[in-house]
Amino acid sequence: MELLTINQFNLSIGENHKIINGSFSIHPGDVILLTGPNGCGKSTLIKVLMGAAFNYAGLDYSYSFVTYKEEYSILDSESENEAFRRSVCYVSQEDEFESDSVLNCFVNSIDYTVRENKAAYVLDFIKQFLICDCFGIGPTKVRPDRNYRCVLKQLGISRHEITQEDILAVKYLSMSTKRMSGGQKKLTNIFSNLIRYQFCDLLILDEPLNNLDYNNVRAFSNVLTKIYRLKPELAIILVTHCRSIPIVNRIIEIDPVRKRFNECESYVCSSCFGTVGEDGVYQ
Ligand SMILES: Nc1ncnc2c1ncn2[C@@H]1O[C@H](COP(=O)(O)OP(=O)(O)O)[C@@H](O)[C@H]1O
Ligand SMILES: [Mg+2]
Repeated sequence: MELLTINQFNLSIGENHKIINGSFSIHPGDVILLTGPNGCGKSTLIKVLMGAAFNYAGLDYSYSFVTYKEEYSILDSESENEAFRRSVCYVSQEDEFESDSVLNCFVNSIDYTVRENKAAYVLDFIKQFLICDCFGIGPTKVRPDRNYRCVLKQLGISRHEITQEDILAVKYLSMSTKRMSGGQKKLTNIFSNLIRYQFCDLLILDEPLNNLDYNNVRAFSNVLTKIYRLKPELAIILVTHCRSIPIVNRIIEIDPVRKRFNECESYVCSSCFGTVGEDGVYQ
């Protein structure tokens, strides 16, 4: 089955500024590196698919057909686009958050899919994928501020029964998105969306490596690899120039001269972020 089919897609911005005119399709299990020079239209293409390109002046597009699961015409019908959006985990290039509270960002992300015990679901995800390791949160003594107490309450954990692992998670979840560094915002944007992976068929991450330091590129890559191993039927689109994610198995490049999608040569993961084990995990 084709998961996403983009047929004769024609995108332009401003008069005569044709960006793309081409086709490609994605199957379950594809991990695609979508690449091409700055400004060639990668983010715009994704935003059009996600129904999020509303602030573009002069944007114009046409297509023969764009279908999801060979069934939903995602650009023809708002309800079919919504069905698509709900089964896609989309991490935008811009790290904008609906809430100042990290816990709320995670909870909002699973709002439609997890009915009960949402905060506990978040806590399990944070612990399962060792998210706290990315934030330099150490086991130092905590001075429980208002946010910390509020998160403890939301999680329903008693201060007397809390484990060391829970303390780290609560410290992270009680951080403020407003006071984060660029890299911390990027990771929070990524992980607060990836928490939905069990309910999605497609993950789209637009420039996920922006602002990440060496260790966090590895950490991000390892979380993504673990998710993919847990759910190998997922399709993943990574918009990036960096060839350092071991699980990538296809490269699609937007060719700005010919204005079309090129399927490139087979992917070789660069080893600039350390040694990769046979399981695709950085060691
Ligand atoms: N909000 C916007 N409104 C109008 N034009 C835009 C907007 N954002 C990007 N563009 C233009 O769209 C083109 C493609 O941009 P973009 O999709 O962001 O490229 P990429 O992600 O490949 O770097 C560029 O020429 C850019 O200037
Ligand atoms: Mg972009």
